[in-house]
Amino acid sequence: MESYEQLSRRVARAIADQIRLKPNTCLGLPTGHTPLLTYKILANWSHGGEEDLDRDAPPIDWSGVLCFALDEYHDVQPKNSFQAFIEEHLFDQTNLPLPNRLNPGQSDDYDELIASCGGLDLTVLGIGGNGHIAFNEPGTALASWTHCTWLAESTRVANQEAFVSLDNVPVTGVTMGLQTIFASRRVILMASGEKKRSIVERAFNGEISADVPASYLQNHGLVDVWTDFGFEKSFAAQSAQE
Ligand code: GLP
Repeated sequence: MESYEQLSRRVARAIADQIRLKPNTCLGLPTGHTPLLTYKILANWSHGGEEDLDRDAPPIDWSGVLCFALDEYHDVQPKNSFQAFIEEHLFDQTNLPLPNRLNPGQSDDYDELIASCGGLDLTVLGIGGNGHIAFNEPGTALASWTHCTWLAESTRVANQEAFVSLDNVPVTGVTMGLQTIFASRRVILMASGEKKRSIVERAFNGEISADVPASYLQNHGLVDVWTDFGFEKSFAAQSAQE
C-alpha cells in the first residue's frame, strides 16, 4: 500500500512528466489538504532538488505551462481564496508566469478560455466527503460547464479550518463543471486517508449517480484513481464502452 508520501510523489511525477512531454501543457489543479505534499514536491523539483528524478534532469520549467484552478469561493477575503492557497503552495515556488495562473473567479467564460488554450491535458482532482469533485456537489448535472454553485453544508464544515468560524465560510462558489473536467484528456483523482475510503469505493465501485458526482468519472476515457489506503483503479476508453 502506498503511503501519503508515495501517493504525492506519484502524482507529482505525473505532472512533471506531462510538463516535460508538452512544455505548454494546460493543467487543471485542485486545492485542499490532499495535494499539499504533491505541491511541496513539485516546488522542490522546480528549484532543481530532484533527488529521485534523473540526475541530469533540469528543474521543471513552468514558463510555458497554463494552470487552471478547479474552483473558487465567492465573496471571500483574498487571503482565504483558493487562488491565494495555490499561489502560496505551488505557483510562487515556480517560474509559472503570472498571466498563466488562471482562476474561474476571474474569467467571464472559463470554458472558452480553456478551449482557446488548447484544452486541459491533465486535471488532478481531490474528492469531497460527499463525492464532490471541484465544487460539483451532489445533484450537479452531468451537462454542466463552469458555473456558480451553492456549497453543501458538509463542504463548508470540511473547509472551515481556514476560516475564523463556519459563519465566515462562503456559501457559494464558482467551479469547473463536470463537462469541463470530462473534456480534460487525462484525469487523476487522488484521495488520502481512511475517511475517504467509503466515498471513493462508492464512487468507483458503485453505480454512476448524480448523488456521487465523482462516479461520473467511470465513463471518462482516461482516469486514474490513486489513494494511500490501498484502493486503486483506472478507467480507460475500452472499459467505458463495456
Ligand atoms: C474542496 C475543493 C475540492 C477538493 C475537496 C477535497 O472543497 N473544492 O476541489 O478536492 O474539497 O479537499 P481535501 O483535499 O481537503 O479533502
